Amino acid sequence: MLHRTTNNRHCSINWAGRWSAIDLGREGSGVSTVSVSLTVNGKKVTADVEPRTLLVQLLRDNLHLTGTHVGCDTSQCGACTVHVNGDSVKSCTILAVQADGADVRTIEGLAQAGVLHAVQEAFREHHGLQCGFCTPGMVMSSADLLVKNPNPSEHEIRTWLEGNICRCTGYHNIVKAVQHAAQTLRQSAQAAE
Ligand code: FES
Ligand code: FES
Repeated sequence: MLHRTTNNRHCSINWAGRWSAIDLGREGSGVSTVSVSLTVNGKKVTADVEPRTLLVQLLRDNLHLTGTHVGCDTSQCGACTVHVNGDSVKSCTILAVQADGADVRTIEGLAQAGVLHAVQEAFREHHGLQCGFCTPGMVMSSADLLVKNPNPSEHEIRTWLEGNICRCTGYHNIVKAVQHAAQTLRQSAQAAE
């Protein structure tokens, strides 16, 4: 089981120059750390982490981006899905050091200028969630799908989302939401031509 860790006690972070560097006990701890630099939601981030630190732990524990959820210990549920260099990735399946230099987007960075992404808006409109625990991962996976396939069939949506588990909704409204978002995004693209 993945637990919130104490890695942040060994963490030094610079966030786009707005946070002063902090060192919460690296010295004398006997724990070796490595420096990783990446862009998260458009902001440059540098952190010292243990080599075993997962990307999801870096996001949640060090950067406090807790919209990315941890729902399993087997890389199956997809609640931890984020975008890494534009591709949806289960952030519990890669190490933070593997994301060094990457461009990462989390659910917190999906809305732009206070406007929900079309997938977020469609989930809201079509009640594509109940408890909401799976929702960040569902939304991030769906947003990636619609970039790669702007007009997916119902079968293609269900197949794409096989890696995201929802215990509440029965998936029907999630699929409706993705179909609606696809339509919205296609109309926006046509209007922009
Ligand atoms: S927490 Fe990553 S797949 Fe479940
Ligand atoms: S809405 Fe509860 S797990 Fe999906």
